[in-house]
Amino acid sequence: MNLEDLISPIDKKKINTNNISYFSEIPDLYFDDKNSITSTQSEFYNDVKFPNYDDIDNFGTLLDKSSKSIFAKKLDEEIPYHSKVLEAGCGTGQLSIALSRYGRKIHSIDLSKGSLIEANNFIKKNEIKNVQVYRMNIFNLCFPKNYFDIIISNGVLHHTHNPKLAFNNLSECLKPNGIVVIGLYHKYGRIVQNIRQFLISIFGEKIKHIDRRFSENLSDKKKYAWFKDQYNNPHETKHSYNEVIDWFNENNIEFINSIPFNFEANDKLFSKKEKISKSEIFLKELFLIFNLRQIYEGGFFVMIGKKK
Ligand SMILES: C[S@@+](CC[C@H](N)C(=O)[O-])C[C@H]1O[C@@H](n2cnc3c(N)ncnc32)[C@H](O)[C@@H]1O
Repeated sequence: MNLEDLISPIDKKKINTNNISYFSEIPDLYFDDKNSITSTQSEFYNDVKFPNYDDIDNFGTLLDKSSKSIFAKKLDEEIPYHSKVLEAGCGTGQLSIALSRYGRKIHSIDLSKGSLIEANNFIKKNEIKNVQVYRMNIFNLCFPKNYFDIIISNGVLHHTHNPKLAFNNLSECLKPNGIVVIGLYHKYGRIVQNIRQFLISIFGEKIKHIDRRFSENLSDKKKYAWFKDQYNNPHETKHSYNEVIDWFNENNIEFINSIPFNFEANDKLFSKKEKISKSEIFLKELFLIFNLRQIYEGGFFVMIGKKK
């Protein structure tokens, strides 16, 4: 991306674009929101570069890995060519990079200098032209209103001091007809993980193999990032389907789909599904406690909406 492409999405009313500071060639557009959770997370994720790279050493291996994730594969199939995409809380940038083909312009933000440097090193090494990373706070976004075609924020809002406000901020930057994809910890889906967190807090790392990830063939860096993210995180909250439906309603977002509640493997992510009624969703949510996939992933759900 050239400088004009880089500057163009930055709202010049919010930022003096002649006066941007950089670290490792990454624009630092971080503004403090005076909340200690944001600064604590910034320091925490500066050390914990999540999800980190393991045996991914080039763009080809990254694409190959992401094609094995149904979520990343479907996003790549369904995000239109030439879309303007924001990934909020991109961590080390794998998803952004995996979605960067087909003339899309990907703008990826995070608090963590350490993670952004990892992302940018990979981008430079692999000569990827259309992903721009920035250090930026979801609570002080520097993008114009109604700008992005697609906004993705996966595993991020539940680490902030106010997930609903963070969602409102992201929605402002989404164009009418644009799609928002939000991944969050689920209040029941995460119960088994909460039990593991409790046991590890009592008995320590020696019992960490109660989490299957530690028996897998992952690099030490990746295991470290998972352990810290899941068992030492300074702040996390849990959410529900109806709570996010309320966020959608307040922001003029129409419900489109959700994983796992409305989704079947052969479905399109962005094709509209019927909202599940309150009584039916309660049972489906409760069953997440026993869902093996949820137990492995740490209790996660995804909600997809479209701005009216
Ligand atoms: C669990 S990681 C998820 C990374 C990536 N989305 C993924 O799925 O692998 C959470 C990320 O959110 C970022 N984050 C937390 N609060 C943020 C905020 N207020 N603004 C921007 N990024 C934030 C953290 O720095 C961290 O990299």
